Formats: sequence, structure tokens, C-alpha cells
Amino acid sequence: MKVMVGVSGGIAAYKAAEVVRALQKHALEVRVTMTDSARQFIQPLTFAALTGHKVITSLWPAPDGESGDSDASIEHIAEAQWADALVVAPATANTLAKFAHGLADDFLTTMYLATTAPVLVAPAMNVNMWEHPATQANLETLRQRGVRVIEPGAGYLACGMVGAGRLADPEYIASAVLNALGRSHDLAGEVVLITAGGTREALDPVRFLGNRSSGKMGYALAEAAQSRGARVILISAPSALYPPAHVELVKVTTADEMRAAVLSRMPEATVIVKSAAVADYRPSIVADQKLKRTGPMTIEFLPTEDILAEVVRQRRPGQLIVGFAAETQNPLENGRAKLLKKGVDAIVVNDVSRVGIGFDSDQNGATFLTATTAIDLPEMSKRKMADRVLDEVVGLRRPQSLLVELSVAELSGEALPSKSQTASSDQGSEFVVKAAASSRRQIIIE
Ligand code: PMT
Repeated sequence: MKVMVGVSGGIAAYKAAEVVRALQKHALEVRVTMTDSARQFIQPLTFAALTGHKVITSLWPAPDGESGDSDASIEHIAEAQWADALVVAPATANTLAKFAHGLADDFLTTMYLATTAPVLVAPAMNVNMWEHPATQANLETLRQRGVRVIEPGAGYLACGMVGAGRLADPEYIASAVLNALGRSHDLAGEVVLITAGGTREALDPVRFLGNRSSGKMGYALAEAAQSRGARVILISAPSALYPPAHVELVKVTTADEMRAAVLSRMPEATVIVKSAAVADYRPSIVADQKLKRTGPMTIEFLPTEDILAEVVRQRRPGQLIVGFAAETQNPLENGRAKLLKKGVDAIVVNDVSRVGIGFDSDQNGATFLTATTAIDLPEMSKRKMADRVLDEVVGLRRPQSLLVELSVAELSGEALPSKSQTASSDQGSEFVVKAAASSRRQIIIE
């Protein structure tokens, strides 16, 4: 498949070379177009050497005798048709603004308007420029038009400031392009219901009992599931995040509202992933008026419903249920206890006492626990973690071979299943008996 990389003019332009390499590693054919400003930071020759193609730097033919490492005479319409995806890395505030407003005064912006292929932008800029309402409004416009925004990372920026604005990791950009190209549509046909964010329980008209969940983990799961071909229902407690494009968002506030939304939508779902941090208690009385300071106060709390446990009770055969567990001590031990108590297929245990992961962080680290396995998911971005969790979910979906021990009594007569018979698992799923194994006490079923 063919990808056009657009390089616009920021200090991160040199990293576009790594983006090209990362795409090539996945056997994608890559061509590059550069804006005038990008050429102030890096020469077209670098990309021409990496791709083996001339680099497009202008809408107009190059004057006679100009260096052969760039080619301006290529039709933008032809290039727009050639590309299966357009990814702009780095995307500057200026390029994003031009895209959002339909300006077409150079090759890149003209191609953006002319292409019908998926478009991805990987912004990189100074943190103040990134946070400026004009930039955020332009990004929102682009998201609404289906452009995939590969969020920048946070850290030390070339301008000397610290904050969001670093170009995303080239490997990550490449995997976003692969997803956009539908190279890993392994969740096609699935309906994935995801809960995200932290619920809020009112104390009075202005105060609530809440938690530090930002929704980042759940939104990352929603974006990952959507880009892997699933239909996604995202049931979200309050979050400042913009929902991923093409995901159905259901907004809730309290644990009770989340329960009602989950139970009403779960019949549609084939996979349920509960990453929300749901309140375990709510005040027994909600004051009508703002509470006044009158000295010490005692508030009685009542337990909320355990939504996950209810989901497990109401599950239908074939529905896969994955919980999350936020632990601050003995994560594996407590996570396994939760897995068994709640009766879920798997639980993602994160040790939220660890600095830099868990609540309101861009990173997470976890263990994916099933009844028989514990898969370590070391610290990584929440978006990558989302894909790793979904990899495991896809793994659970594959037909599993089961070894069934039969009692001597069952084997004594006609009870021995023949090749075409079906058997049931504990969860009620049906399996077709494939073959009788050599031992007369065991059969293998799939
Ligand atoms: O949102 P972020 O800032 O990105 O942070 C992500 C996260 C830390 C919130 C996330 O990774 C996480 O751990 N989510 C689960 C948080 C939690 O409430 O864990 P728990 O161990 O208290 O609950 C276990 C499971 O039961 C969870 O799937 C929870 O959704 C569910 N639950 C809990 C209480 C309740 N009343 N009903 C439930 O369904």
C-alpha cells in the first residue's frame, strides 16, 4: 500500500525521516511532499534517498537545471489518487489551520483537498501554540471531518518549554497509518462496549464525590477498537477528552446512570471492557441547597451497585467481558481475587500506586489476567496499552482447544462423545468435539 508523507515546517521535520523508515518497515511504499518551510529544516535529498522517489516541493515545475532531488512537475491530482493514505508529520499549527479552512496554496494543502484517502496528522509545535484555542478549534474541525489526529506527546520541547507538543513516536505514527489502512481489522464485526472516566456522586448542588480518572484509558481503548474495525459504544463519565471519530458516545455522570446505560446497551455488545472508575459509594442524602460550613460534618455513604457483577449475571453466551482493577497493594493477588469474584473473562490490573501510570497519566502499565494466564504489559502509552489489551481480547476470541477430563462412569457406556457432538463450557459456550485423544479418559474439543 502507498502512503504520502507530508512534511511541514517545524523543528520536528527531521523526525519525518524516522517516520518514513517506520512506514517502510511495514512494507508500505512511501513518497514525500515538503512545504517551503519544511525545507528550511531539512533537505529534500534526505527523503529522496530514503524513498528512492523525487520529493514534491511545489505545485509548479522546477526551473531548468535545478537539483534533481525534488520534482515539482507531478500533478497533485494524480498523487492524490496514488496515495492510499496521507500522513502529515510533523503537522504545524499553520498547516492544520490551512487544512481546517480549505486553503490550498501549496502541494500539500492542495493534495489534502484532492484526496479521498484517509488523512492523518501528527502535530508538533510549541505547547502554547498547541493549547491555543485557534489550534484546538482547527483540530476539532478536522476530527469532525474524519481526519485522524495522532496526539503529540508531552515533555521537554525544542523551544525550551515543557508540555504537550512533541511529535508522536514514529513507530506509533506508523501503527496509526496501518490502522487507517485497515491492515489490522481484527475486530471487524464486533460491537465493543467500553466504559471510561470517573463517575461523580453529588453531595449538594455544587459538590460531588469523584475520583481522578481522566477517561484517557477508556478513550484510547475506544479509538483502538474503532480503528481495528469494531463498532464502538463508549459510555463515558465526565471527561475533558474529545471522543474519537466514529465512536458512539453515551455521556453519564453517576454510577447509577452508568449502570442504566451499560445494561441497556449491553445486548448489542459482543465485547464489554469496563475501564471506568465507578464510585463504590454515594452519599445517602443529597442536599437540595449548598451545604454551609457549620463545624464537623458526618456524611453517611451507601454502596452503589456493582455494574460489572451485574453485567456478568446478565451476559449472553459468547459475550466477552473484561474488567479493570485499580490496585494500590498486592496488585496480582487482589486482581486475581477480583477476576474470580466478578466472574469476568479477564481483568486488566494496574498498580495505580506507581508514579507515572494509572489515573490521569498518559502512560499505563498492567497485567492482563485470565483464569489461566498472566500477561505482563509493561509501561507504555495508554494508546499502545489499548492495542495490547485488544490483542489479548482477540486472542481470547480465537477458538481454544480444551482438554476435558471425563469420569470413568462417563466413559463406560455411550457417553463418550463422537466427533460431531457438541459440549458446553462453564460459560455456556458450545464447542464442537474434534477428536478423541489417545487416552480414553480425555477428549480434546475446540
Ligand atoms: O481514566 P484514566 O485517567 O486514564 O485512568 C485509567 C484507570 C486507572 C481509571 C483505569 O486504568 C482503571 O484501572 N479502571 C478501573 C478503575 C476501578 O474502578 O477499579 P476497581 O478495582 O475499583 O473496579 C474493578 C472493576 O469493577 C472495574 O472494571 C470497574 O469499572 C468495575 N466497577 C467498580 C465499581 C462499581 N460500582 N461498578 C463497577 O462496574
